[in-house]
Amino acid sequence: MPHLHIEKFNKLELPYEKDGVSFNFFAKNTKHDDEILISTTVEDEDFFLLLKDDENKTLLKTDKLTRPASTQKVHNALLTYAKEAKLNVLSSNVHTAAKNIHLEKITALKNIEYFADNFPDVEDVAIEVGFGSGRHLLHQAKNNPNTLYIGIEIHRPSIEQVLKQISIQELDNLLVLDYDARLFMELIPSNIVSQIFVHFPVPWDKKPHRRVISTSFIEEARRVLKVGGTLELRTDSENYYAYSYEIFINFPKITLNIRKNSDIEISSKYEDRWKRMEKNIYDVTMINDLDSKALNIEGDFSFNEYKDDYDKLLSLSGVTKRFEGGFIHFERAYSLEDGIMLRTSMGSFDRPEHLYVVVRGKDINYYPSMPLKSKSNLRAHKFLNEVLNG
Ligand SMILES: C[S@@+](CC[C@H](N)C(=O)[O-])C[C@H]1O[C@@H](n2cnc3c(N)ncnc32)[C@H](O)[C@@H]1O
Repeated sequence: MPHLHIEKFNKLELPYEKDGVSFNFFAKNTKHDDEILISTTVEDEDFFLLLKDDENKTLLKTDKLTRPASTQKVHNALLTYAKEAKLNVLSSNVHTAAKNIHLEKITALKNIEYFADNFPDVEDVAIEVGFGSGRHLLHQAKNNPNTLYIGIEIHRPSIEQVLKQISIQELDNLLVLDYDARLFMELIPSNIVSQIFVHFPVPWDKKPHRRVISTSFIEEARRVLKVGGTLELRTDSENYYAYSYEIFINFPKITLNIRKNSDIEISSKYEDRWKRMEKNIYDVTMINDLDSKALNIEGDFSFNEYKDDYDKLLSLSGVTKRFEGGFIHFERAYSLEDGIMLRTSMGSFDRPEHLYVVVRGKDINYYPSMPLKSKSNLRAHKFLNEVLNG
């Protein structure tokens, strides 16, 4: 993660603009004085820089929840703030020098709005969830030029490695998304995907709610797959295999193909490691036989006017509220010069959305952008509106 280790923080007078970077407002954690968020805009993209004391070091870094896909924008914002506020930088991993020319040329990295606003209109789509080193994804894209491959990953170094390969191999049928695949599934149109690969997902033995495979993931997979399309789970974890099998088999009608220790065209880095350790590898392939209804998501993310006082908002910090099929957790509160901001996770338990909610006077807004327009988020939004105004 890009960061600057600084001697002491100095506040700029906000709003402040320099060379295309704008700093808009500060948000201060109401329980920890040493945590300040700085609202930042670079090339129309809004995100927070985060000031935080970490093991006796004062660090200025990027806020994980709002970080933009482009590391360059974060570098630019960090260096601009440090220069303009005359911060004494003791050490840093942020460089101004040589940009990665492969990443410069890349247009394959898309944000979630790209897919939400207008899903690519192509004949054939295949998706790989958690592509890691990308060996399998790159191999598939190279060998099937008429299929659009969408690779979804949340690990930034893996994404950059694959973007570099897309540029080197000049692939024009591969898009990459830095997002939680479980949420992404909800906005894919119905019956357009021919293959979904979930290879060696993190087993999350202690936190099963974080697993990619769940009943709702399979429901979405059945909806987005064409008739005859497949969802391929490949895992070395006997536990994950048993857990997933149980979920698949609970569907009243489903076609599964199960194999043990069978080789596929290309072996991933993980797979090579497990094979050296002589671990068993399990494949569960679901063949879709449903023709699903078109995706139809009704509703919006508007709020009623805020009627209460700020003390009520502050008292929500740390509170979890549940509703049927989901929850809202108010992680922490921040004070703004003219309002209150809540860091919130909301939605369904197995694919929550994390975002900020800003209240200024009567106005309530999400920051920096609206939640993804999915059924579970719309349900959670309706409930949030009631909690804030109830
Ligand atoms: C164990 S690795 C396997 C990587 C690759 N498929 C392979 O076979 O080598 C699992 C990958 O899934 C990614 N991942 C985990 N949860 C995810 C999610 N909800 N959405 C997208 N990617 C996810 C992780 O970042 C990690 O890179």
